[in-house]
Amino acid sequence: MLISIIGQGYVGLTIASFAARKNQVIGLDNRAEIVENLNAGKSHIEGVSSELLRKYLNKNKYRATTDQNQISNSDIVVIAVPTPLTKDRKPDLTFIDSACKIIGESLKKEALIINESTSFPGTLRNYIKPLVEKYSKEKLNHHYAISPERVDPGRKDWNQKNTPRLFSGLTPEASEKTRAFYSTFCDNLVEVSSPEVAEAAKLFENTFRQVNIALVNEFAQISNALGISVHETLQAADTKPYGFMKFNPSAGVGGHCIPVDPTYLAHVSEELGVPATFIQRANEVNLQMPKYVVNRVKVDNGGSLKGKKVQVIGVAYKPNVADTRETPAELVINELESEGALVSWHDPVVKNWQEQTSTALGGSDIAIVITHHNVIDFDSILKSAPYVFDTTGKISGAKGF
Ligand SMILES: NC(=O)c1ccc[n+]([C@@H]2O[C@H](COP(=O)([O-])OP(=O)(O)OC[C@H]3O[C@@H](n4cnc5c(N)ncnc54)[C@H](O)[C@@H]3O)[C@@H](O)[C@H]2O)c1
Repeated sequence: MLISIIGQGYVGLTIASFAARKNQVIGLDNRAEIVENLNAGKSHIEGVSSELLRKYLNKNKYRATTDQNQISNSDIVVIAVPTPLTKDRKPDLTFIDSACKIIGESLKKEALIINESTSFPGTLRNYIKPLVEKYSKEKLNHHYAISPERVDPGRKDWNQKNTPRLFSGLTPEASEKTRAFYSTFCDNLVEVSSPEVAEAAKLFENTFRQVNIALVNEFAQISNALGISVHETLQAADTKPYGFMKFNPSAGVGGHCIPVDPTYLAHVSEELGVPATFIQRANEVNLQMPKYVVNRVKVDNGGSLKGKKVQVIGVAYKPNVADTRETPAELVINELESEGALVSWHDPVVKNWQEQTSTALGGSDIAIVITHHNVIDFDSILKSAPYVFDTTGKISGAKGF
């Protein structure tokens, strides 16, 4: 089969790397530089090796393109484009719009269209299908399905093969075709009764994490006020064999999912007249963590950070990846600058960020660890500054929550 995947980022390239085992794959992306690199056998995504990419390129199983006409004979088109928030924190479906336009304008035969991008319930039925039909010049009876992506880039224990995959088609035929496609590389397919259930389940999974992270972040503040260690307390609670799941405090939530997806759920819930108060409160608590961290550091350092050299260590939103989307490091840096600190950052995985290059580790009065990558050893961090505040809870000997 010819599989076209719109968007060759974290999700799209990962799916491409699995689909190319048994199919011909076209990776469509509108960023020419990415396409050029992919066709030269250079992967930009953790979890998809350049070696694997070159293997598929050499066997003509995969090619990347910016040319939408190349997808015209696809049997399956997978949508894997971003679904961010607008400036006023509302769902931004402009990338989905452009993917639907590409599909509508380009497809010359009936195909299965699968959405893997995260969005609110009803997106497939009420948004994607009508849009594709609007842009189609020919009357084609495409099949539509949703299979929300659960990939955790960089993770080795849970991957495309062993992570259960939710899916549902708009029709039983679409569901069957979707099952047939994913069963070539996923061992555990879970069909649900409607696309809306799959869409809502994805949002709820990430809302569950967002709310629990906010809860533990609030608890870190309560523990500090009580004069007890939050980490020891959480470890103690975690000895309960049932009914408890441990989350760790942090400088906030980052990435394209946890700070974003719950707001998609809140959007749809508010439209239905149901207030999503937990989601809003969790957003507030998580967004206020950078200020809390900077305040703790300020108090420990004589009540002022003015003129102090502060190095922020780890600006990616999570360990061992170069992804900086929605990273709390940005808010921590803003907060430090507003306190008059002289801020630099060090991240050997990210290397370049916001038109700046990572500085060498050390040379500051204060170090604040936001994300710990395995390539930086704890000892070097502890020696990098006379005062080290570790928000990850991993570095013994450093200050922290
Ligand atoms: N990254 C993850 O871990 C993850 C996990 C689960 C779900 N998701 C969801 O999957 C979706 C994609 O996320 P991602 O992390 O892969 O994003 P990404 O930014 O890494 O990749 C998206 C790619 O789509 C391309 N693109 C945008 N509009 C396009 C268009 N009109 N035509 C062709 N290409 C276009 C961009 O250039 C980019 O390369 C989002 O909805 C996200 O919430 C992501």
